[in-house]
Amino acid sequence: MSTKGKRDFRPQFHFTPAANWMNDPNGMVYENGNYHLFYQHYPKGTTPGPMHWGHAISTDLLTWQHRPVAIAPDELGVIFSGSAVYDEHNTSGLGTDGQAPIVAMYTSHGECEQQSVAYSLDGIHFTKYEQNPVIKNPGITDFRDPKMFWNPVRGCWSLVLAAKDRVHFYASDNLLDWHKTGEFGPEGNLAPGIWECPDLFPLPTRDGEKWLLLVSMTTTPEQGQIIPQYFIGDFDGNTFINSQPFDEVARVDEGFDHYAGVTFQNAPERIFLAWASNWGYAAQLPTGDYCGQMSLAKSLKLVETPNDGLRLGGKPILPVDQSESETIPHHSFTGEQPLTSETFRLVLTADGPSEIVLKNQSGQMLTLGVNQQNEFYIDRSKAGADDFHPQFQMELYQRRSYPRFFNGSYQLDLIFDVSVVEAFIDQGTRSYTALIFPDTPYNTISVTGGSATITML
Ligand code: FRU
Repeated sequence: MSTKGKRDFRPQFHFTPAANWMNDPNGMVYENGNYHLFYQHYPKGTTPGPMHWGHAISTDLLTWQHRPVAIAPDELGVIFSGSAVYDEHNTSGLGTDGQAPIVAMYTSHGECEQQSVAYSLDGIHFTKYEQNPVIKNPGITDFRDPKMFWNPVRGCWSLVLAAKDRVHFYASDNLLDWHKTGEFGPEGNLAPGIWECPDLFPLPTRDGEKWLLLVSMTTTPEQGQIIPQYFIGDFDGNTFINSQPFDEVARVDEGFDHYAGVTFQNAPERIFLAWASNWGYAAQLPTGDYCGQMSLAKSLKLVETPNDGLRLGGKPILPVDQSESETIPHHSFTGEQPLTSETFRLVLTADGPSEIVLKNQSGQMLTLGVNQQNEFYIDRSKAGADDFHPQFQMELYQRRSYPRFFNGSYQLDLIFDVSVVEAFIDQGTRSYTALIFPDTPYNTISVTGGSATITML
């Protein structure tokens, strides 16, 4: 029985559009104390339509202020995903004396896919560059999602974009004139598919740095529909060189609902945010007047694992960090206890198998934990409404389990926000983002195999 129209599933600290459709995060840039989040948006309906860039800003990555639509379709096409940079030294010449521009590049999706620029001097209103497109289509149908970044090897701007089943790299001195410098892919793919929304950036290691190439892949429903992959390697200034065995290619998140994640440009840390949904059923969610939500922002890092080399980890940016806060009410427990809020954080400490079960009065329940085989698992098969789309009811979209990268004791961090859960283990080297639609709020929580601390958010 679907809960459509029955209750408000809007999460409180996961970003949602004020109304209507949203998918990928776009153009994420930090400038003048503000995090700018643009996003794929159809402002006239709750299902995908002609895409625009919606816009919101935040100073803490948790509370967002909606801004008007930033970029709307034109004669070159609708506005697909892309990125933005703060052009501090006005290399583009699009700024004015004393006012550096934010320069955005998006995919004009029309008769073909090509890349176009728009810029802003106030961070709100955008002007399209007169000579768009800046990168023409080279005869490849899927040619999109440019992610610009500063190239420290060559001392210029670079970008990575998705070209069917691989990525292409381009370089530029002025963000407007671009030339191709290399390609990478599709070796190492976890399944056959089309690459989308790439990102490339360095993260520190014990003895230097490694470059991360993120690629979101769309594959078949039988393979999970969406796979957010990452590769670890080096960047020679022109192209990415993979340095981890291809059979160790891994996922940014193992959950059902995590896609198109990229990082903020110009931010003090490497902060990442993804769309918390799945193209398989994204347009049929029972959420009413809005459709689409983002993951929490998380700060990324590389983690050394005992047997699996370096792995991507991360720490979610939370409303409160109870380990640092004396004033936020929290308490420890084992066994079952009543749950009075639809927004909370639970930290479970354990050194063997454990289980967390959330239940409501109609017996719907969400289960997660670590099993006898040392696998981290999540089970939403009985968590709530699942009949809004047949794909949501397939086994692969109900249960997942992945071996931990560590043995022995662990901390499992569960962040619950009405209809979105995010669970992290072992410094975020494994994580699950999952949507759940319980008919009524879960009103009990039980923990076995460890001790938990819960904080109402
Ligand atoms: C990824 C994606 C992008 C594209 C956008 C269109 O989810 O398919 O490749 O630019 O969504 O909304």
